[in-house]
Amino acid sequence: MTTHRVKIYAGFERLWHWLQALFIITLMITGFEIHGSYTLFGFETAVRIHTVVAWAFIALIVFAIFWHITTGAWRQYQPKGDRSIVRQARYYAYGIFRGEEHPYRKTELTKLNPLQKATYLGFKILIVPIMVTSGLLYVFYNSWQSGWTGGLAVVAVIHTLGAFALVAFLIVHVYMTTTGETPLSNVEAMITGYEEIEDESEDASVSV
Ligand code: HEM
Repeated sequence: MTTHRVKIYAGFERLWHWLQALFIITLMITGFEIHGSYTLFGFETAVRIHTVVAWAFIALIVFAIFWHITTGAWRQYQPKGDRSIVRQARYYAYGIFRGEEHPYRKTELTKLNPLQKATYLGFKILIVPIMVTSGLLYVFYNSWQSGWTGGLAVVAVIHTLGAFALVAFLIVHVYMTTTGETPLSNVEAMITGYEEIEDESEDASVSV
């Protein structure tokens, strides 16, 4: 088997990924302290950290949206509209445990498999907007709550449910990172930007 090194992640993409991970984990730790699940920093400090990191997270999202639009990188999340997602789900549920080949080949332009496209798209257009919107309603509740007294309770429930969905996403996401060529190859690629890819001509049966 011959391989070649391929650039998979741009510099901004890696910076954005790791900053986003840092921000979300900090928001998770401080958020569940605010929720009352445990005591770590103390309530007041947890709220302060949560609010500062939330604004940094929003700024990062603005940069990331700008980068995805201007570079055309948003196209990598576009679903293909065929049955490739079923093939990928079957591989993770069954084939991976029988040592089958990955049903999908990574290239410079198509680094996400169909299941990743669907989950990342859901993360970006559903979970993150829910957290940002409910979080901002929380931050500015003094300006709108007088008109609707039960409003803050609704916001709190939505924000907390979104936080649980994020925890679930994170657990599955971290597991998925171990399913590359080697358990650490995907993480290495997100650090260095490069990944060893099998040469195309050696296995024509593997389709993108
Ligand atoms: C930009 C995004 C976000 C903003 C603006 C935001 C803002 C806030 C605010 C203002 C509070 C209430 C603090 C207080 O009671 O004074 C809060 C609570 C909380 N946040 Fe966030 N947050 C954001 C993202 C996140 C994320 C990503 C998570 C976790 C994954 C999270 C988890 C929580 C939790 C669990 C609570 C406690 C909810 C409760 O018990 O009512 N937040 N957030």
